[in-house]
Amino acid sequence: MFKAIAHPNFALIKYWGKSDYDSNVPAMSSVSITLDSMKSETTVSFPNGLSKDRWILNGIEQLSLGQIESPLQSLKKIASIEDFCQIESNNDFPTAAGLASSASGIASLVTALNAAFELNLSTQQLVESALEGSGSAPRSLFSGYVYLEALNDQVRCKTVLDPEQWPLEVIVCITSNKKKFISSRKGMEITKQTSPKYWDWVNSQEQNVAIALNAIEAKNFEQLRQVSEQNCLEMHKVMQASDPPINYWNEITYACVEKVREIQDRGLAVFFTIDAGPQVKIICESDASEEVLFFMKRESGIQSIIQSGLGQGSRIIYE
Ligand code: PMV
Repeated sequence: MFKAIAHPNFALIKYWGKSDYDSNVPAMSSVSITLDSMKSETTVSFPNGLSKDRWILNGIEQLSLGQIESPLQSLKKIASIEDFCQIESNNDFPTAAGLASSASGIASLVTALNAAFELNLSTQQLVESALEGSGSAPRSLFSGYVYLEALNDQVRCKTVLDPEQWPLEVIVCITSNKKKFISSRKGMEITKQTSPKYWDWVNSQEQNVAIALNAIEAKNFEQLRQVSEQNCLEMHKVMQASDPPINYWNEITYACVEKVREIQDRGLAVFFTIDAGPQVKIICESDASEEVLFFMKRESGIQSIIQSGLGQGSRIIYE
């Protein structure tokens, strides 16, 4: 039995759009932070008597292998393994609700399979394998501040700053536990096909990535705030200009953003980001986190709040 753990990562400079639907390669680079709380755990085992590969997600047997099929089959092929395996994945936070459960789930999966199949994959091979499951999953293989470079259909990924070098904190406001109404994969395709803003979005991305990487290197919070908030709002505008419009926000999402604006007016170093779901992720300097938490706890409608630091990439915890 082989068990791996990975945490979600939240993009500050986001990817929304694939260069090709089937290959799953992002059409743009991205920059993210890996958390140290919330976790996906994946266990790979080889029980006797299986007649096919089995995937149990949060205790429920899945009818198809879905997103894990592609990385699983390609790693089995590299390892020349024909035995069927059982994969059990558990998330200790809402699944498919815009909290990057697929990124942490897939990162923990490829890490566990690498050990279970005794593959000894290089970092680049792990990145490519994670990418087959989800475009943001390679980032959860890495710790702290992470740069995923997507250039000419080649993807590379690395840590650009360790969490201890700039220990920002994240306050995740969960405004709904429901699964997202449209998957990122489908949403991205609709946006690419129908949003008049799509190509401007793709073409502006490299510049935003460069600004964010600079801000991270210089630990310049204000610069990171500006480029991250602007990039997040732009991504949601691009989606909303699709036909049909895609809007992942709910009323509480809007209220949380208003609240963050009020907290900023008080002079605290804080900003928000929102992904393919209604959850609001508030990033702040560590000395501001208690005050941010105090204000967000008083905001009505938020279902739960998770406080997190920045943390490590995926790793084996049992073999
Ligand atoms: O990796 P996916 O297919 O779940 O897409 C992630 C999309 C966003 O979370 C909205 C942006 C990002 O870069 O993480």
